Amino acid sequence: MPVNPQIQRLKDDIALWKERRNAVILGHNYQIPVVQDISDFTGDSLGLSRRAAETDADVIVFCGVHFMAETAAILSPKKTVLIPDRQAGCPMADMITAGQLRELKAEYPDAVVVCYVNSSAQVKAESDLCCTSANAAEVVGTIPAGRQIIFVPDKYLGAWTARQTGREMILWDGYCPTHACITAEDVRRARREHPDALVMVHPECPIDVCTMADVVDSTSGMCRVARETDAEQIVVGTEKGLIHRLKTENPDKEFFHISPAATCPNMKLNSLEKVLWSLQEMQHEVTVPAEVARRASRSLQSMVDA
Ligand code: 13P
Ligand code: SF4
Repeated sequence: MPVNPQIQRLKDDIALWKERRNAVILGHNYQIPVVQDISDFTGDSLGLSRRAAETDADVIVFCGVHFMAETAAILSPKKTVLIPDRQAGCPMADMITAGQLRELKAEYPDAVVVCYVNSSAQVKAESDLCCTSANAAEVVGTIPAGRQIIFVPDKYLGAWTARQTGREMILWDGYCPTHACITAEDVRRARREHPDALVMVHPECPIDVCTMADVVDSTSGMCRVARETDAEQIVVGTEKGLIHRLKTENPDKEFFHISPAATCPNMKLNSLEKVLWSLQEMQHEVTVPAEVARRASRSLQSMVDA
């Protein structure tokens, strides 16, 4: 297919400014296709965090949502972390504040607090352990048997992890508005329409959806399964941006998005124009107060190491 000259020009300018700034572009698997294509690394929250911690670039342009850039800033304190669109937040991360978590901890003073990475730096600073959807069960598995566990903010990932580990958990009533749109009826319809397909869903989906699926995994986990499975048709139960990467990596397989409702408007805010502007103007820098970063990095380390 001929390349649109305007897009090519933007890509060339981004490459030029990236070199000038000694920058790396990290893109989440839900970003729009052109943004995924110009990213040096695309991945899930865990993969992106690890890359952010390892990079020797001076500048990280984070194409994702705010908590991801904040996590990169904590894990890479000497780097400048930029987010091209300041409005790109995560509604689930905003569903619990540090003050609310402190109140919950006061109710259960002996509980170990596990926070999902989709949370603010302040909430991470109040937590003992942090996890992503790729390693929630491993992280919870490190908690001695018999200890109470508080899990915030995602009640669905918490419920799924409780089921996988056999541990009881005190769950916060948070959820992802995008994944909450995926219903059991969507799974039933997908199975009727594509009886031979493998059904993969993200653990941010409601628990009944997770129990009906063949595979429950993070976005990069789903990419790995799609590469390794013999199934030629796959139903994808997560944000629609993942389909681009799945199709690129598996041109011989067919992918079906489970529901058009599963779109995250925040993940779609970045564009080539904004990435270029971000590099040119060194905007918008994401920083975390030193004391918050110091406390949050303890819980984040458990996530990166798990
Ligand atoms: P992962 O890519 O880590 O699976 O997370 C999904 C998500 O919703 C990020 O906001
Ligand atoms: Fe947050 Fe859900 Fe969007 Fe992920 S998909 S950034 S959890 S709102």
